[in-house]
Amino acid sequence: MSGFPVVRPRRLRENPVLREMVRETELSLKDLIYPLFVIAGKGIKNPVASMPGVYQVSVDNLVREAEEVVKLGIPAVLLFGIPEPGEKDEVGSPAYAPDGIVQKAVRALKKEFPHLLVITDVCLCEYTSHGHCGVVDNGIILNDPTLELLARTALSHVEAGADMVAPSDMMDGRVAAIRGKLDAHGFTYIPILSYAAKYASSFYGPFREAAGSAPQFGDRRSYQMDPANSREALREVAQDLEEGADIIMVKPALAYLDVIRLVKENFNCPVAAYNVSGEYAMIKAAAEKGWLAERPVVLEVLTAIKRAGADLIITYFAKDVARWL
Ligand code: PBG
Repeated sequence: MSGFPVVRPRRLRENPVLREMVRETELSLKDLIYPLFVIAGKGIKNPVASMPGVYQVSVDNLVREAEEVVKLGIPAVLLFGIPEPGEKDEVGSPAYAPDGIVQKAVRALKKEFPHLLVITDVCLCEYTSHGHCGVVDNGIILNDPTLELLARTALSHVEAGADMVAPSDMMDGRVAAIRGKLDAHGFTYIPILSYAAKYASSFYGPFREAAGSAPQFGDRRSYQMDPANSREALREVAQDLEEGADIIMVKPALAYLDVIRLVKENFNCPVAAYNVSGEYAMIKAAAEKGWLAERPVVLEVLTAIKRAGADLIITYFAKDVARWL
């Protein structure tokens, strides 16, 4: 007994070269997906007040944004559409219009940047007058009548050239409905990234400002998951995989690291995590006030999401990370 500790974890922390060599988790640009908001019109670049650095852009400016994304080495984008306000209706028709805003955007992007992976968010809330993700009757969000509309939306995105579709509505059976529709039209190899464990979170506030998709009455708790549940997330994921989902998403990310880990440990599929708008806004606001140092905090948060088990991260910080790494 020398009186000295034999086991000293600090031995591996002293030398920065060795510290890096034994690092368990590495954040990579190749894992990041950058969300973009595309709006009808021309020459538009509207800043989103609660998300500094994020804009609603018209298709012409979207192409410029994408050019920057490609130059920075970010492999993929996730598209959200904002139709003209007058276009919205009870059944979200602009979501599945062949010449809808996302469909136009996809065509423009794939023409200019064939190697950029273009993923589209499939949902109705940006396109319905009531702002819910499904068809509404008497204040109830109807599940089954919504499925065909989601499937049609996904098909129209893929027909426009989308590389992958990402249903975010949380209706039961939507993955099967979309898979069936795509397969019937010969798109058997277009993967589905399912928002499988999507919680009824208060962290989506800034997004709803960006996408103009706040529900006009009530909330989304009858279809999105209760933040108190994690076993239920496993059921959702199991069901979506059975229906043909290829990649599973947990959303939000930061307050749900345990769910990311659970999904990772229970299923052999790639896991994506959505570092959502409210998570972005919190850091931006604190950094603006000088209360947090933005760069190390962002890198710490994204590394933690990866450490928890995410293979892919959807984040509004993607361009910043590309510049930092
Ligand atoms: C559409 C959708 C939402 C988000 C992604 N897809 C909002 C919602 O469900 O209300 C949120 C993304 C974010 O907050 O960054 N259903």
